[in-house]
Formats: sequence, structure tokens, C-alpha cells
Amino acid sequence: MALVTEWVNVTDNISIIARESGEVWFKTRTGTKEGLDPFATPMTGVGAMGSTVGLLDGAINLGFATIENRLARPDLTLAGYIVALVGCYHTTVDSPRNLRRAASRFKELGRPEVATYLEERAREETGHDRLALKDLRALGVPAERLVANFVPEGIKPLCKRFDDLCIQDYPIGCIGYSYCLERIAALKQETDIEKVQAMCPDGVDVTRFLRAHSSLGSEAAHVEEAIDFVASLPANDRIRVVQETYESALIMAEGYNHELLKSEAEILKELEQALGEALPYGPSRGAVLGPRHERNSAIEAGT
Ligand SMILES: [Fe+2]
Ligand SMILES: [Fe+2]
Repeated sequence: MALVTEWVNVTDNISIIARESGEVWFKTRTGTKEGLDPFATPMTGVGAMGSTVGLLDGAINLGFATIENRLARPDLTLAGYIVALVGCYHTTVDSPRNLRRAASRFKELGRPEVATYLEERAREETGHDRLALKDLRALGVPAERLVANFVPEGIKPLCKRFDDLCIQDYPIGCIGYSYCLERIAALKQETDIEKVQAMCPDGVDVTRFLRAHSSLGSEAAHVEEAIDFVASLPANDRIRVVQETYESALIMAEGYNHELLKSEAEILKELEQALGEALPYGPSRGAVLGPRHERNSAIEAGT
């Protein structure tokens, strides 16, 4: 049987092309003579896991590539980690409700298989916001007050994107958004978790959220399930999911970079303003534990 080839136009002039065998190409359409480009028209065939994952991961790489050269690479600090946990709380607290809303819309649309998938996702994600709260409490931070008063600037557009996607008339894009966040979280390794834990006193566990949203937690399985499900969707749906994965990666890359570019003094000021009191921590003194940046950073949020 011939190998499956899939393609999606993610910008006005860039297409991602992926084969079932794992090869991925980024094709610019500029200069192609009209009528000669077989990828100019939307794909209509079936998907396959090997090609679908190529499109999805290609979309994330393309989204991050737009800011790759100006990515912030600050050192990991407790204050920065606290902000990251607040971000994690906000990107997860409404996920189950949003996913259920999208699920009920797919039920109305006569797509029970999509509804069932989203309902299952909602169940899996329930309670993940509480992991972030527990980690904040373990750090001695008044967690509820902090998250009530503070949404990191760079996280706001991400939260808004998911809210908007889930209330659309045809909310298939929410699967692309979730894939983007989960795929990036699943890149985190044990060493990323150890670096965070090393900043904290022995016996204080501040990595519940991070562990659950890493290669050690359920995230790797969620990613596999998502690829399997997206590959089973009709071509039009796969196109929209991949396009939204790209849009979400762009928003995520910009947002995280915005947060990571802040100095520790700025971060502490923001946190203290939100809390109305000083943090239990002052500026870090030599707490340099390696870079926190990019897709496998220990600091980034997941779903
Ligand atoms: Fe997940
Ligand atoms: Fe989660």
C-alpha cells in the first residue's frame, strides 16, 4: 500500500508536508507557477499517525522558529518558578469546563466520537489546577490570593485563545491548542524537575504539577492519544487542528518569551503587588541552576 502523505497550509505561503514514514518538509509557495503545485489545494485523503504527527510537530516547530533568535535564556529562580506555577494554574483551571463545552457542541453537530474524546480529556485534566496550587503552598506562598490577583501578562493571550476556541460554532481547534501545550510539556525530562527541586529545601515537594506535565507523568500518554485521534479525523478537521496548533505555538512562544525576558526584580515586584506583601524569598543569591527556556524548559506551563 502507498504511504500516506498529508499537507496543510499554515500561513499564506508556507505549507507543511509530511509522509507516513516520518519525513517532514516546509514548503514556501512563493514562485511556484500556478497549477503546478499539488499542495496548493487542501488535502482530502485519510490520515495516518506517522504523517499526522509530522504535521502537528512541524506546526509547533514553525511557530517557535519565528522567535527562536530572540528567545530569552534567564537563569532559573524561585520567583520565576512561582510565576510559572501561577501561569500553569490559569492555563488549567478552566480546561475541563471549556472542553466539556466544546464536547456538547460536537454532540449537537452529530459528532459523538469527537464529543467522547473531549469529555475524556476533560476528565483527565480535572484537578490539575490544584497541583499548581499545592506547589505554590509548598513554597510558602498564599496560593489562592496570588492566583486571584495575578495572571502573568504572557499567559493571558493563551488563556483567551483556549476560551475563544472552545465556544466557536465548530470548536475543533481546541484539539490543536491542547496538543501544542501537552506536546511541549511532554518534552520535559527528569533533569528539568531535579533542577527545580534543587532550589528548594529537602523534603518540600514543589514539582507536583511539573511531574504530571512532563515525560514522567500522564502527558506523554495524552500526546499519543491526541495523535491517534487526530489521525482518525476527516481531512478538513486535520487541517484545522494543525493550523490551530501553529497559531497556538506562536502565541505560546511570544507569551513565554515575554515572561522570561523579565528581570528577577521585575518579577518580585509583580508578585509583591499581587500579594500586597513581600514574598518569603528575596532576590536569589547565586541560585543559578542552568537555563530555563525553550520547549523543554522546566519552567514552562502545560495543560
Ligand atoms: Fe494533559
Ligand atoms: Fe494537565
